[in-house]
Amino acid sequence: MDKALLSKTAAAMVARGKGVLAADESSGTCEKRFKSVNVECTEETRRTYRGLLFTTPGAEQYLSGVILFDETLRQKTNDGVLFPEYLAKKGILPGIKVDKGAMDLALCPGEKVTEGLDGLRGRLAEYFKLGARFAKWRAVITIGEGVSTLPSHACLYANAHALARYAALCQEASIVPMIEPEVLLDGGHTVERAEEVTEAALRATYAAMAAHHVSLEHLILKTSMVVSGKECPRQAPVDEVAERTIRVLKRTVPAAQPGIVFLSGGQTDVAATAHLNAMAAMKGLPWPLTFSYSRALQNPALKTWRGQMSNAAAAQKAFHHRAHMNGLAAQGKWKPELEKQAA
Ligand code: 13P
Repeated sequence: MDKALLSKTAAAMVARGKGVLAADESSGTCEKRFKSVNVECTEETRRTYRGLLFTTPGAEQYLSGVILFDETLRQKTNDGVLFPEYLAKKGILPGIKVDKGAMDLALCPGEKVTEGLDGLRGRLAEYFKLGARFAKWRAVITIGEGVSTLPSHACLYANAHALARYAALCQEASIVPMIEPEVLLDGGHTVERAEEVTEAALRATYAAMAAHHVSLEHLILKTSMVVSGKECPRQAPVDEVAERTIRVLKRTVPAAQPGIVFLSGGQTDVAATAHLNAMAAMKGLPWPLTFSYSRALQNPALKTWRGQMSNAAAAQKAFHHRAHMNGLAAQGKWKPELEKQAA
């Protein structure tokens, strides 16, 4: 465990005005995204698309890191440079998704637990050699509707335990763990319920971190924002989302932690930016806040690209614009008018 390297990596991940691109969609998720723009999902189209994002001129101004999928960590740019090497040369930290996905949690209908701990120590040692300096593990927490009491205690604690075991293994390997207990925004639940569940999930997560001796100084939280369920008739406005999210984070996340990043979770691109901006503009927060979006950074680029080489430059421009907007939002300097300006 190289504490100096872990500190350096964690600080770089949340450097001012920069955030993390999540480009670690599993091949199944990638297939869904590509299908939406009629692109066949093959090893080569995935390489081409991700290469397009990574080689966007100037993206390094706004990106501190990129989360890669195992396949991508081993792929190369059109010029034959391994992606992690290419990114590191640009000053962007290569990261790696190490979980094996969320599976049905036995005897807990409708709930998931993330798998991937078996053999993880060996995989982390290889990932470090391949250049990965941080990792990601995503847990999925579903909010039940009506009389349902979901999430269950079993779901919260099974996922927290796995997150802590993963985080400890990462730190042992000198890789910064990004821990992601994602509370899904799917469903008709209220924003009040989202706040309650997010708080419960984070409490369980940090209790497990303490129990497993995970060093808080070498840890990054990737969290969902406290938003209304997608189907809820009352959608909380930006200021309310910001206030509720920060209240929960202040209650649960130790100030010793170097930073917090957010997932976008299916919010619109601009909503994800506006919410981050409102939170980052608050004074006196104990940790830097920034983005670690997949969809909210990639959507416009994917829709512009549509698998056509001839659209590559326009797609890069669209990606640059979202990265730029979120880089400003991470400093509380974004304004809606900026969306109208070309990148
Ligand atoms: P979204 O920003 O699309 O929610 O993805 C972030 C992520 O990495 C989910 O694990």
